[in-house]
Amino acid sequence: MLLILLGCATGISTPPAAPVRERISFNADWRFEKNDPAGAEGRLAYTNIKAWVTATGNEFTTNSQFAARPEGNPGADVVYTQAGFDDSSWRQLALPHDWGIEGPFKQEYPGETGKLPWWGVAWYRKHFTVPASDQGRQLYLDVDGAMSFANVWINGQYAGGWPYGYASWRVDLTPFVKFGEENVIAVRVDNPPDSSRWYPGGGLYRNVWLVKTSPVHIGHWGTFVTTPEIDGKQATVNLQLNLKNDSNVPAAVRVRNEIFELDHEGRRGHAVGAVTTDELKIAAGDVATNSSRVIVKHPKLWSIEKPQRYVAVTSIEQNGKIVDHYETPFGIRSIAFTVENGFLLNGQRVPLNGVCNHHDLGALGAAINTRALERQLEILKEMGCNAIRTSHNPPAPELLELCDRMGFVVMDEFTDTWTRAKKRNGYALLFKDWAEKDLRALIRRDRNHPCVVLWSTGNEIGEQSSAAGAKISEWLTGIVHQEDLTRPATAGCNHVQAGFNGFQKTLDVFGYNYKPNEYGKVRAANPNLPLFGSETASCVSSRGEYFFPVSNDKAEGRADFQVSSYDLYAPRWAMPPDDEFQGQDEFPFVAGEFVWTGFDYLGEPTPYNGDMSNLLNYTDPAEKARAEQELKELGKILVPSRSSYFGIIDLAGFKKDRFYIYQARWRPNLKMAHILPHWNWPERIGQVTPVHVYTSGDEAELFLNGKSLGRKKKAQFSYRLRWDDVVYEPGELKVVAYKQGKKWAVDTVKTTGAASQLLLKPDHRKILADGKDLSFVTVTVADSHGQMVPRSKNRIHFEIEGPGEIVATDNGDPTSLESFQSPDRNAFNGLCLVIVRAKAGQGGTIRLTARAEGLESASTTIRAR
Ligand code: GAL
Repeated sequence: MLLILLGCATGISTPPAAPVRERISFNADWRFEKNDPAGAEGRLAYTNIKAWVTATGNEFTTNSQFAARPEGNPGADVVYTQAGFDDSSWRQLALPHDWGIEGPFKQEYPGETGKLPWWGVAWYRKHFTVPASDQGRQLYLDVDGAMSFANVWINGQYAGGWPYGYASWRVDLTPFVKFGEENVIAVRVDNPPDSSRWYPGGGLYRNVWLVKTSPVHIGHWGTFVTTPEIDGKQATVNLQLNLKNDSNVPAAVRVRNEIFELDHEGRRGHAVGAVTTDELKIAAGDVATNSSRVIVKHPKLWSIEKPQRYVAVTSIEQNGKIVDHYETPFGIRSIAFTVENGFLLNGQRVPLNGVCNHHDLGALGAAINTRALERQLEILKEMGCNAIRTSHNPPAPELLELCDRMGFVVMDEFTDTWTRAKKRNGYALLFKDWAEKDLRALIRRDRNHPCVVLWSTGNEIGEQSSAAGAKISEWLTGIVHQEDLTRPATAGCNHVQAGFNGFQKTLDVFGYNYKPNEYGKVRAANPNLPLFGSETASCVSSRGEYFFPVSNDKAEGRADFQVSSYDLYAPRWAMPPDDEFQGQDEFPFVAGEFVWTGFDYLGEPTPYNGDMSNLLNYTDPAEKARAEQELKELGKILVPSRSSYFGIIDLAGFKKDRFYIYQARWRPNLKMAHILPHWNWPERIGQVTPVHVYTSGDEAELFLNGKSLGRKKKAQFSYRLRWDDVVYEPGELKVVAYKQGKKWAVDTVKTTGAASQLLLKPDHRKILADGKDLSFVTVTVADSHGQMVPRSKNRIHFEIEGPGEIVATDNGDPTSLESFQSPDRNAFNGLCLVIVRAKAGQGGTIRLTARAEGLESASTTIRAR
């Protein structure tokens, strides 16, 4: 006791001073309520909110805080904004949160946005205490993304907001915070219907942070690290800083920048260089910039194979005390888009083997989850993918951190629309007032990531064919250049004329969507313009579905709303993967491609996106007759499709056949061969059942039950081997692939026995009990030999014991309207997925059990720590 008292008296037991800068997760303990309070409906509608937030931030200067505060206190009279409002009956939840994914799916909702209810108004409130010891510090709310038209009140005072749902932004809370007391934040989001061409999600769907700094500190996204000179012996690292002085007296500071290696896990290793500046003066309330350079000897370059990172640690010293400490991870690498030789990374040509992805995480919806993103990237890496396009919007920051760490390059995209609307309430509403702020915000946030190699100012924007469009493009490219001269500006262009009418001259690198036949012509007209396929293929398929007879026709309407997986089908503007490969091979100066898409996504279920009641959509007479009948009976055709068929990988993360045609091309040294279709066709005995093979070899021989069906060689510009006249008999199909005459790889497909058991395979058997980490469990319907039974659709029930929960189930079927949170799900063509999370702070063994009628059930365990 005496010791303790003594300790207090001498100050020994006082808690250590808080770090000079804190970035605290602000995700826990929110209260949530859908809709405005009675009487306020419409008062705060996004159209009105737009006027407020438009009024707030027009003075965008290089140094401004992004969201300035408007005059007055809009919404002060709305009860949900008020500090004293009793929200204890509201639902309690943790962020990230996407209310849309909770459903329910409804047949009558638009398939284009996933048949889920993601639109509308919702409120989030959070009570939190700010210690008295924070008095004198700056407090900021950093929102990685809120969908959409978000506005923030603190203690009843309006603090700021941001309308674009994919932007990251900051609100300064300092003037309103009550130190040593409870504070209440209220956030209102207003997601307009008819505002997206895909599933956007709704709510505070990304991470939210509380940032505390000293009055003198590095500004928001206030560091910019570039590596202008790199040679074998050394690299020059330039550091440009924005220093803010939010106090009311002038400040004199010294800045020290130290550079360390980072290991794969992001842990700090050796110090490799440092620089300290002379004294720097910052006037009260002002911002100063500071540039310095450090030479790093024998730099380890960031590359796709070895994504070595460094971190710049910036310390600010004021009056002999460190007042800020800021870390900027970066990489040392050089990039160039060349006219003749595509994309160069560190001087070496790297073909862009890329995919476009939307932001949703399948059954998890838009709510960001790092493990789910990492799993996507792992699967893509296995395919040989090395590039991601964040179609068509700024991604979650975690995606870029993962790409830095795992070795992917990124085309970072701003928007899907400029002034010409694609959707009534889409970004065109905002473009005039917000485009500059949104684009600058994107670049400032992301420009230290070594993975980012291209800034895209837009996708298939409607203005490509007009002179006014070229002007807008020039303006946006100018902004890109002001913010970052180290990466080129591009856009995804789909109008043929955009390559010739002058629009192309407003871009540093030209991105063509779906035009493999035009590459030569664009080059002839623009001999100095680097070129790449910004969006390619758009082939459609449902995993494990095969329709006969196999034709090379475009996608056709079918009564079961699936698409055959022979990888020959694409909508009118699109094509199979093979056609793009040919374009890339014929014109080797093209830097590569971004396939539409890596993963299936919620929404845009082309070819069932549009009007299926148009009987001209049907080519199969039987399907057409069925549709006609339905039309007669119901007056319309009910299309159940709610997610895309474009993915190389389905919504649940299971590989479709197409995975292997890309793997064959993108990993030419991997010994692989892949046969399609499966070989369970009891009703097709004696009928022609074509067999296609994808291989990284150049030749292959196919055997059916030991009999050779002939050896075939890939011709120039052919990327698959086809045996189109195979007559089905049950048994074993085997392919032996060759490369340059030598045996290279083998694949077999067998007719299986009847389904008799379930098999469970977690991708991770150990997960963190942090309430975030996930294990993705693949459920296979198998015969007695453990072979997946390809066409099985058994209904499966899942149970979980121990400190875990089933977050979602899925099976990759784009037509299922069953809730993603359901513990019951049918297998889709032999597979099903269960996503398991450990409860936060509860370690132990989680046991997952799967049961299905007539099948042996199965269990698996996952350890949570
Ligand atoms: C493109 C568009 C994408 C997607 C795709 C489907 O034209 O840029 O967003 O709609 O078509 O094929």
